[in-house]
Amino acid sequence: MPLESGDSIESLLQESRSFPPSASFSADANIKSEEEYQQLWNRAKDDPAGFWGDMAENLDWFRKWDNVLEGDMPDTKWFQGGKINASYNCLDRHLENWRKNKAAIIWEGEPGDRRVLRYQDLHREVCKFSNVLKRLGVETGDRVTLYMPMIPELAIAMLACARIGAVHSIIFGGFSADAIADRNNDAQAKLVVTADAGWRRGKELPLKAAVDASLEKAPSVEKVVVVRRTGYDVDMVPDRDYWYHEMMEDASADCDPVELDSEHPLFILYTSGSTGKPKGVLHTTAGYLLGTTMTSKWVFDLKEDDTYWCTADIGWITGHSYICYGPLSNGATTVMYEGAPNWPDEGRFWEIVERYQVNIFYTAPTAIRAFIKWGDQWPQKYDLSSLRLLGTVGEPINPEAWMWYHRTIGQERCPIVDTWWQTETGGIMISPLPGITATKPGSCARPLPGVVADIVSGDGTSLGPNQGGLLVMRQPWPHMLRTLYGDHDRFVRTYFSTIEGASLAGDGARRDEDGFIWVMGRVDDVINVSGHRLSTMEVESSLVAHAAVAEAAVVGFPHERKGEGICCFVTLKRGDGDESLKQELIQHVRRQIGALAQPDQIRFAPSLPKTRSGKIMRRLLRDIAAGRESTQDTTTLEDLSVLARLRADDE
Ligand code: WTA
Repeated sequence: MPLESGDSIESLLQESRSFPPSASFSADANIKSEEEYQQLWNRAKDDPAGFWGDMAENLDWFRKWDNVLEGDMPDTKWFQGGKINASYNCLDRHLENWRKNKAAIIWEGEPGDRRVLRYQDLHREVCKFSNVLKRLGVETGDRVTLYMPMIPELAIAMLACARIGAVHSIIFGGFSADAIADRNNDAQAKLVVTADAGWRRGKELPLKAAVDASLEKAPSVEKVVVVRRTGYDVDMVPDRDYWYHEMMEDASADCDPVELDSEHPLFILYTSGSTGKPKGVLHTTAGYLLGTTMTSKWVFDLKEDDTYWCTADIGWITGHSYICYGPLSNGATTVMYEGAPNWPDEGRFWEIVERYQVNIFYTAPTAIRAFIKWGDQWPQKYDLSSLRLLGTVGEPINPEAWMWYHRTIGQERCPIVDTWWQTETGGIMISPLPGITATKPGSCARPLPGVVADIVSGDGTSLGPNQGGLLVMRQPWPHMLRTLYGDHDRFVRTYFSTIEGASLAGDGARRDEDGFIWVMGRVDDVINVSGHRLSTMEVESSLVAHAAVAEAAVVGFPHERKGEGICCFVTLKRGDGDESLKQELIQHVRRQIGALAQPDQIRFAPSLPKTRSGKIMRRLLRDIAAGRESTQDTTTLEDLSVLARLRADDE
């Protein structure tokens, strides 16, 4: 749905149900009243430096900042002159009181193995692994790639990097060897931490083998550390590959955190943009940590005795911010689960909720749609009465899925926070506050304090109630990305060149008469498959790299379970194409990018619909993929017979 200048987006969704929190929830909430929210929000808007300076007292500093905010978007610097360490804030400061014996991470492996790491334990492991990294030559500022299953060692490795000021770049375990190589090259990573394999639905998913294959194309990587997780057979290359457990055996548990500048890079996380090459979103230490700390407190209403579970994978931003940094900085107990939600059966998540008496549960709409499909009998088998707050993130949630979540999981007792944010924003931007917001199914409600969101037309004019347009941010916030690694021009171009004086989210949205925001999805060539961002260009590039393919256009289409599915229109160099070539292309994309990018549909065509100026008519292709009659004017179409052919190939 790319927006041309001056366009606004038509919005058809109407939803009038509203669910206020209970009086008892509000009474105990971290933000208790509308007045308190208004006060915080107005202060943050009028005096961002004063507001965020006060908030920064929630962190521990080696040296306080001289200046809260310098510069304006796109180039802002926060807390200049300050010295801080994220691992210190997530660990050491909790050892000074009773929290040293509190569970930091409650972990469960897919086969059913369990580990609890108290803050003391996690601190010890992190210090030891920091020393391992140092011994293997990692220095402050070096990039370290983590390609790991959801095991405690992943959190340990992240925090160890943060402790010594190495910049972590986590690659989701579903990516292929080529994708790892691209990211390692872009970041010029020096060391990779991986595992032999991870568990997924009872099967071993090899990881080290993919790293081995990637290293042939990524010469910057000097060393690899391998965690033994499943016992899967791996090749260990002498003087390059090291077993985690062997290195940890004699590592010292003493490691002072490095006193880092506030703007020292904390991590790079690659995400899909509307051109093929993934974007290395870079977050820095103090601002990111402050944002995730405060938003965890406000949105998840974290209390000292809560057990909190975010079901995301740490390979995505949600896991970075709300499994690791946000909860741990608050001294919370965070649950981490390694495997699939339907292993050994579809009740696994609810069994975990019951076992650990989870109070706060944060998941994605794609998971909720799967739960609905699996049936109510699964959650009904378990005691979910410990739950007091539910959350969602990753894509718009349709009102019926929201209602199911509210009734079947929340038992009409738990507020739901539908949190809108992005890899680029670092933390939650728009969300209900559970103690005060009367939630509306499908709306992510209002901007948090410090977030000045607006909805504008293509020429930057603010739009009125219920007019759909582009979602933008008009004021900087501490946890926003600082650059795209190695490509500052692309950073400026992507986010700041469309709307003067604002940063562009890339989403379409409207604001209703109560100021509630309804996000309508992406406006660029990014599609959201099961809550994972994918660039259509990336899939196109992969298809075109296949010897048989002449040209490809990839679009999303509505998919019942995944949210969006991937539809590929392909023209071949010769011949008509058959089922076996379809399967071959599907596997080809899967190999090149990873399982998450596997096409749902391949449609062959003698040519693609183009305007006379040669532009592929993507809107038309989207309509065809969705099985809709197109409203687009086709008079500019070069060859009308193409259309009939594309439609005829409808599966
Ligand atoms: C979408 C995930 C509607 C949106 C944290 C955004 C949402 C993209 C919501 C970012 C929500 C995320 N309602 N849409 N609550 N949350 N999105 O970078 O299109 O993986 O731009 O970050 O997901 O995806 P990303």
